Amino acid sequence: MSSVDTPVSTGRTPVAQAPAVELDGVSVTFDVPGKGQTLVARDISFTAQQGEFIAIVGPSGCGKTTVLNMLAGLLTPSGGTVSRHGKPVTGPSRDIGYMLARSALTPWRTTRANVELGLEIRGVPRKERRERSMQLLSQLRIDHFADAYPSQLSHGMQQRVAIARTLAVDPDLWLMDEPFGALDAQTRVKVQTEFLGLWEGTPKTVIFVTHDLSEAVMMADRVIVMTARPGTIKVDTRVDVPRPRRPADLLFDPQLEHIEQEIWKELRDELG
Ligand SMILES: Nc1ncnc2c1ncn2[C@@H]1O[C@H](COP(=O)(O)OP(=O)(O)OP(=O)(O)O)[C@@H](O)[C@H]1O
Ligand SMILES: [Mg+2]
Repeated sequence: MSSVDTPVSTGRTPVAQAPAVELDGVSVTFDVPGKGQTLVARDISFTAQQGEFIAIVGPSGCGKTTVLNMLAGLLTPSGGTVSRHGKPVTGPSRDIGYMLARSALTPWRTTRANVELGLEIRGVPRKERRERSMQLLSQLRIDHFADAYPSQLSHGMQQRVAIARTLAVDPDLWLMDEPFGALDAQTRVKVQTEFLGLWEGTPKTVIFVTHDLSEAVMMADRVIVMTARPGTIKVDTRVDVPRPRRPADLLFDPQLEHIEQEIWKELRDELG
């Protein structure tokens, strides 16, 4: 037996890996002019393991975007802790991709130049930038519009470009705030399919906010329902449906529909 095959004891006990994302007892209070301190989120606790896809649903104003903002390091909680891989989030981080609900493209940059923006800021060489942007655009099936400007693209195409721009820097954590909210039903299924195609098989963690419960159930490993403001977590449901998932084939899937109905009962009570 060679020495390589001999097990070597390091004398260390294996340490369980810290979750990719952890919110522990988080509360958020905003100072609203004329109203004083307003509690918008209370005692929010959940974890996401590396590679998990978590969807968050809840009534408007319950604090979904606020949760994403804290994870992105753009907002400090008033109480509790937000951490990634066991370390508190203290500010913005380069390994996070954040696609905002109304992600506007830069109108004077072409599709490709929009996608390359983050890479340019990081000083990635031109050739490498080009390869990365064209690879993403081709995976999202808009490579033939690489030289077009945003005003020349349909809404669905613009959303694909916004996705490509968010993922171009190869972030470890994908924060998506209602990314497909404004798309028509058929375009949405196509873009969902492409998005899942980009994510499935990667070790990336996704926190995905949506108002569309069937989208949440179809895309995610777990769906978290938040209560009305001040938002906290009401239920956290696992969606045990195998991957890869193809949204077009799952639109009327009985198992998903059953899970969706169960979650809807929880959400319905929060809508007032
Ligand atoms: N900077 C701020 N100052 C004061 N109040 C704020 C601020 N940001 C958010 N809020 C309030 O906090 C609450 C939660 O906002 P948030 O945007 O997180 O809700 P949401 O769940 O994402 O809603 P929606 O589904 O409509 O996007 C809202 O009542 C909002 O008005
Ligand atoms: Mg929001």
